[in-house]
Amino acid sequence: MENTDRQQPLERLQAQLAVPLERVREIAAAFQQEMTAALAGRDSSLKMLPSYLDRPTGEERGEFIAIDFGGTNVRILRVELDGAGGVTVCDRRGFSLKDPAGKYDYTTAESTAVQLFDFIAEKIAELVVPDREYPLGHTFSFPCQQTSLNQAVLLTWTKEIRAAGVEGNDIGELLQAALRRRSLTCVRPRVILNDTVGTLLAAAYTDTDTDIASICGTGHNTCYHEPCHPLTGQPMILNAESGNFNRFPLTKYDRELDRATEKPGTQLLEKTAAGRYLGELTRLIVKDFCADGYLAIAGEGVNRPYSLRGEDLAALLAQEAVSGAKVLSERWVLSHVSATDAESVALVARMVVKRSACLVAATFLGVLHHLDPELQRRHTIAVDGSLYEKMPGYAEEIKRTLQEFLGDQAVRVKVCLSKDGSGVGAAIAAARAESMKKRKA
Ligand code: BGC
Repeated sequence: MENTDRQQPLERLQAQLAVPLERVREIAAAFQQEMTAALAGRDSSLKMLPSYLDRPTGEERGEFIAIDFGGTNVRILRVELDGAGGVTVCDRRGFSLKDPAGKYDYTTAESTAVQLFDFIAEKIAELVVPDREYPLGHTFSFPCQQTSLNQAVLLTWTKEIRAAGVEGNDIGELLQAALRRRSLTCVRPRVILNDTVGTLLAAAYTDTDTDIASICGTGHNTCYHEPCHPLTGQPMILNAESGNFNRFPLTKYDRELDRATEKPGTQLLEKTAAGRYLGELTRLIVKDFCADGYLAIAGEGVNRPYSLRGEDLAALLAQEAVSGAKVLSERWVLSHVSATDAESVALVARMVVKRSACLVAATFLGVLHHLDPELQRRHTIAVDGSLYEKMPGYAEEIKRTLQEFLGDQAVRVKVCLSKDGSGVGAAIAAARAESMKKRKA
C-alpha cells in the first residue's frame, strides 16, 4: 500500500485525537468545576478524598518501612530520613503479585484479601530485623475513603485488579491482621496514603513550592495541597482521583476499550491517558485500519486484547522504522511487518501518547487555576510513573502544553520527575504520623 493511501485515515485520526489549545482551555475549566463541585459535596466525577496529611516540614527523621502497592507490582522499602531533607533508601525489594511462572496470581477475582495481604506480610518479614521497631507507611494506590491517617476503606479496585474481599474493607485492618498472623509485632502500621500523596510529600520534603503531584504510569491520578479544607478549615492534601474525570471528548476507540474493561463507564481519563491502556488503544486503532485495508498487518496477535503494551509504544517511538517493525513482529508473532506499516503504527502511537499528555496537562491547568487563578506564586508539579519517565516525548509534551497555554507565566510552574516518590513519601507520612501521635500522647 502506498503511503498516500493511508494519509487520509491518519489525518482523520489526527483530527479526532488532537487537543488544540481551545480544547485544553475547556477541559481545564471543566476540571476546575468538577473540583469545586466535589469540594462542596455535589455530584462530580472527582472524589477529592482527604488524606489527613499536610505537607512535610523537611524535619521528619527516623527509620521506616514503606510499602508501595501500586498495582501488579509491590515494593517494600526501608527508608531513613535525616531530618534535613536527606533520604536514604537502605533496602528495597520489588515483587510481582502475579508469578511469571504462573504459580500464583493475587490480582484476580479468585484470590482473596487474606492471601494477598499474607503475601505482603511475608515480604515485609524478609526485610526487618527482629527486636527493632518499625513504623510503617503504606502507599496503596487505589481510591480509598479515609476517616483517619490509618483507616482507609477501598472504594473500588482500578487498573483491572480484582482480588476478592478487599473492596469495601479497611486496608489498615487487612494489613494489621496479616502482620498479626505472622507475629510481626515489630512492624507498626501508622498511615495509609495514595501514591500521588506520597509523591507530593517526597517532592515537598526538599522543594517547598510543590503543591501538586501526579502519577502518569500504569494508572493515572493527581492530588494537590488544599490550603483550607472545607471540612476542617485546615490545610490538607486531597486525592482528586482524577483518573475518573470524564468531561472530555471520547473517540469510538475509547468507547470500545471501555466496554471491554472490568468497570465500563468509570475511570475514563485513566483509560485514555494511562500506560495500562495506551497500547490497547493503539492496537484497537491498528486493528480498525487493518480491517479497512489501510494497513496490512494480519494475524492472531493484532486481534488479541492488550497484546501491545506501554513499553512497546515506548520502543516504537524511540526507534527507526526498521526496529519498529521488529518490535511489532515480535509482539504480534508475525514473520514480517513492513517498515511503512511500522511507521504508520508508530504515528498512531505518537498521536495516542500526545493526546494523553495534553489531557493530563489540561487537568494540571485546572488545579493551578483553582489554587492560584492569577498565578501569583510559584508551583511545582511533581510527577512519577513510567509514562512520564520513559515514554519518549511525554514529559516534553506536558511542559509544551503548559508553556503554550500559560505563556510568560509558565516560568512560575515547574514540572519535575519525582522518582520513587510514592515509597519515600510513605516513609515521610509515617514520620509525620509518629510525631502527631507523640504530640497527642
Ligand atoms: C487509582 C489511583 C492511583 C492511580 C495511579 C488509579 O487507578 O485509582 O488511586 O493514584 O491509579 O497509581
